[in-house]
Amino acid sequence: MMLDSTTRQQLVATALEARQWAYAPYSGYAVGAALLTASGKIYDGVNVENAAYPDGICAERVAVFKAISEGEREFIAIAVVSQDGGFPCGSCRQVLSEFGLNTLVIIANPQGEILQEATVSDLLPHAFGPQNLRDR
Ligand code: THU
Repeated sequence: MMLDSTTRQQLVATALEARQWAYAPYSGYAVGAALLTASGKIYDGVNVENAAYPDGICAERVAVFKAISEGEREFIAIAVVSQDGGFPCGSCRQVLSEFGLNTLVIIANPQGEILQEATVSDLLPHAFGPQNLRDR
């Protein structure tokens, strides 16, 4: 699906706005995400760290889990804002891939400039997915 630039910028603005709520006292690396679903709603997310380090979670997965818990299943695009504009980690790529390989991932910096874009299948080729568990 093609996304117009107004929608892209709106997603980036939502991720940027959400980023202020990141709880990242250990890494100091704040991330904001905004996920657009097929119903037209946007779910935001931030990374939430913990004193027990592995118990923290990334912004992207928070946004996905918020959306899923509201009954959403189809994702059009996710914008991610961080200081250096990195692509999502492997775990987030895997979680995103569960719900669609064509979801567009939009990476922006804290100035709201889009730095790079890729689909989930670009980021996670040969993904292990629900299809692997069919016909057991
Ligand atoms: N993090 C995200 O929230 N998203 C990413 O795409 C990369 C990493 C978080 C996890 C951790 O709280 C901090 O950034 C440093 O890794």
